[in-house]
Amino acid sequence: MLNITTQDVMFTGIQPTGLLTLGNYCGTMCNWKTIQKKYQCFFCIADLHALTTRNHDNYIKNSFSTSILDMVALYLSCGVNPNDSTIFVQSHVYTHSQLYWILSNFIYFGELSRMTQFKKKFLVDKKNINLSLFCYPVLMAADILLYRTDGVSVGLDQKQHIELVQKIAHRFNSKYGNIFVIPHILKESKKYKIMALQEPTKKMSKSDKNFNNTIFLLDNLDLIRAKLLRSLTDSDPVYYIKYDIYNKPGISNLLSILSVLTNKNISILECEFKNYRYYDFKKQLSEIVCDTISKIQKLYFKFRKDEDYLIHILKFGAKTALDISKKNLYNVLQVLDL
Ligand code: TRP
Repeated sequence: MLNITTQDVMFTGIQPTGLLTLGNYCGTMCNWKTIQKKYQCFFCIADLHALTTRNHDNYIKNSFSTSILDMVALYLSCGVNPNDSTIFVQSHVYTHSQLYWILSNFIYFGELSRMTQFKKKFLVDKKNINLSLFCYPVLMAADILLYRTDGVSVGLDQKQHIELVQKIAHRFNSKYGNIFVIPHILKESKKYKIMALQEPTKKMSKSDKNFNNTIFLLDNLDLIRAKLLRSLTDSDPVYYIKYDIYNKPGISNLLSILSVLTNKNISILECEFKNYRYYDFKKQLSEIVCDTISKIQKLYFKFRKDEDYLIHILKFGAKTALDISKKNLYNVLQVLDL
């Protein structure tokens, strides 16, 4: 029988800002059910990370607690089982902010300023950049390292941040011994980044101003069909279904979505849809997407009704997370003579 303490640890975090998208689902969430069987899992709702952009985002201040409960219900609908895994809110567990400060002593200004996610935000709005946005990856490092995480479930866009976390852990360990486990991106993470439907050269994002770019997991099914049928394919004069992100970014994106949802390799899908017209291909795809999403939605509405249950899960999760992370934080404080 599997002994829980010998299981590898998986950690993931998602900000409670607005609703989750098909991109989130295909990037990480669709794997959670299987990952949960192999790993001791921590699902963190990163509300402290969400504070960094709270003033800029278009969600209202008081909706934090609502978004958090929405998110727990969605986690459950995607197959996360609170009896096997720990679901908790970052700000309920104080060890995160404490380790964050300690780790900020093990990272250089230059390293943080090379983070592309920060650079992009900085370019858009130089005046309104908080220090917290700059230090964002250090808090991620604290999240991950506190639980002796082996595998992190993140989308490809977070790769640079995870490399930085590895660097911080190595640096700390080389001075103080083997305190931290060096985390890696979970190999079960999907290899495709899902792109915006109308502009398939940029990532599908929940904060996109053009709502035709994004499919939300709680969108009405007819709307989902319409968005997919309207999605940009390509202007390649050669009209066929092939994965080629440079010449056919639109079709490639749709193939990626299909590959994740059907668990079939792209090359198999290319053969299967070889003689399809784009419109028929999109129609077939939209049925598969709607089938997946409608199952999630049914469960979601069931779980979301029972707020007491959701709150109970978070309370219990915070207690477990605190117990475990406290031990690891204690080791850190000890070696630093604090
Ligand atoms: N930065 C992540 C995102 O926006 C969210 C996150 C916060 C996270 N802490 C984490 C992801 C720790 C993985 C591990 O997607």
